[in-house]
Amino acid sequence: MCGIVAYIGRKPAVPILLEGLKRLEYRGYDSAGIAVLGQCGLSVVKALGRVRRLESLLEERPPLAGSLGIAHTRWATHGEPSDRNAHPHTDGPTEDAGGHGIALIHNGIIENHASLKRYLLEKGHVFRSETDTEVLVHLVSELYQGDIENAVRSALREVTGAYAIAVLCEEEPDRLVVARKGSPLMVGVGKDEYIVASDSSAIVAHTTQAFTLDDYTVATLTRDSFRTTTLDNVPITPEIRELEFSLEQIELGGFEHFMLKEIAEQPHALRQCLKGRIDTREGQVVLGGVSQYARELVRARRIVFLGQGTALHAGMISEYIIEDLAKIPAEYDFASEFRYRNPLVEEGTIVVAISQSGETADTLAALREAKARGALALGIVNVVGSSIARETDAGVYLRVGPEIGVASTKAFVGQLAVATLLGAFIGRRRFLSQDVVSRLLDELQAMPDRLEQAVALSDHIREAAARYVDRENWLFLGRGCNYPVALEGALKLKEISYIHAEGMPAAEMKHGPIALIDEGMPVVFVATHNSQYEKVLSNIEEVRSRGGHVIAVATEGDTHLPSLCEEIFFVPDVPEQLQPMLTVVPLQLLAYHAAVLRGKDVDKPRNLAKSVTVE
Ligand code: M6R
Repeated sequence: MCGIVAYIGRKPAVPILLEGLKRLEYRGYDSAGIAVLGQCGLSVVKALGRVRRLESLLEERPPLAGSLGIAHTRWATHGEPSDRNAHPHTDGPTEDAGGHGIALIHNGIIENHASLKRYLLEKGHVFRSETDTEVLVHLVSELYQGDIENAVRSALREVTGAYAIAVLCEEEPDRLVVARKGSPLMVGVGKDEYIVASDSSAIVAHTTQAFTLDDYTVATLTRDSFRTTTLDNVPITPEIRELEFSLEQIELGGFEHFMLKEIAEQPHALRQCLKGRIDTREGQVVLGGVSQYARELVRARRIVFLGQGTALHAGMISEYIIEDLAKIPAEYDFASEFRYRNPLVEEGTIVVAISQSGETADTLAALREAKARGALALGIVNVVGSSIARETDAGVYLRVGPEIGVASTKAFVGQLAVATLLGAFIGRRRFLSQDVVSRLLDELQAMPDRLEQAVALSDHIREAAARYVDRENWLFLGRGCNYPVALEGALKLKEISYIHAEGMPAAEMKHGPIALIDEGMPVVFVATHNSQYEKVLSNIEEVRSRGGHVIAVATEGDTHLPSLCEEIFFVPDVPEQLQPMLTVVPLQLLAYHAAVLRGKDVDKPRNLAKSVTVE
């Protein structure tokens, strides 16, 4: 939620900030703003809407000169999206004059903003927006005594909630102060310059050296030095590391949308995810990230998968995979529910947090709760060095490359692959024979090629989507492992095309939702050959006899289903545990094409943001 970018160096700040905002726009895109500190003092420009609107406003006015600046793209929490509520916020009576000339951008939520605002109103501060952020900039101003770093530190000691902030002050034109608690922030370290951003996509074009700020840490950057301290001013030394991805990975590379690019990348992403993790000669799984906990995994009494959205759907499938391969009781829960339901964490409980971004606030909070109750906490995470990755005891990275499209696609396939590896890793140490494991791993290694076949269905799926795209209500049904895939198909369709779609276990339909089915209603079945295939056929008949139109994802070579379906997408025949990795692909493509045909902004759907860093 919200993208932050800040620059201090020797180059003009505006182009660097705008380019950073464009890269971070997927994190929030209802308004954007920029503040630059130059020889003429502080200048602030803000605009409702996308970064390109801010860019046009900047083109219409005299250039903002200066090599120190901060910029923000917003996903509204407090206060509607508007020019006024857009960041940066300043402490003066007007946008760029008065006060101490302090400007601040913020990602997160200041929970005690109401009481702080009462205090500041009594002190005579004047507020111009409805945001919690403006309260923070006034608090910094109130505590300012000639040292912006100290003022920020003192203000943050009074704050509860989550924040990543960047602050500049007209009275100290050579310092940029940034801080973090609970919301992500990285500092890119260049030659005589620093680029601060919510994630590395805004940094990698300038430098590949960066450090992640820890919670409760403040960094003060000048053009050629930096210093990091705790909120109590104890110096700390951050670990500077090499960023692991290239510019190419975060560019469209000829695709119309990141979502389509990321769907197409899935075979390659899976190869990367599996690389070095299967010892083909020995037929074994190599998971360096969790091997020090092999004993705990083998003796676990219960494994609980936690996540939200697509990551939760991967957790649901992981439950099937772990019970099947490792024969350990497994379950899943919405991280947001787990956290607040006083969960039982007995000895031998292992919690696995699944998250693409590694920053999802609900998942992070649930993870902390589980750890506080004594669980061993593992992570299945994509973003290296993210909060969840850092707070888990151990974990396995997805290695699928950066995922930019708001709709999660390739991360899901990576999450399922890692769950399968984990299942085989534990299973072989418990009851699974070498034969079974070796066969499964051979099949897993063949999956990237099979994914290529699924991705190649794109044109056929576009034609099918065109026939149903004006229908406003869809059902997605499946059984067993295919049930979470149905949920995922429905989520994809609703989040990017705004069509109402519901997913459920196929058998559940006749307990109520069947009442919705009328002539021509699209009902998508994930109906591959598995232990429940025959039962699904009966559900298909139930839909047909009420006039519903059946769209099916089926196993290649199925000769029976075509006569029962209006549309059918065939995927290769693979073992049941691996089917979700394939069956999800036609559903991703169906949602993608439906959204494009409806003229929607696929990569930036309304009201959404890529990473949900508020609870
Ligand atoms: O970054 P995470 O995997 O933790 O994100 C979890 C969900 O917010 C995410 O999967 C969301 O549901 C996506 N928009 C789904 O496409």
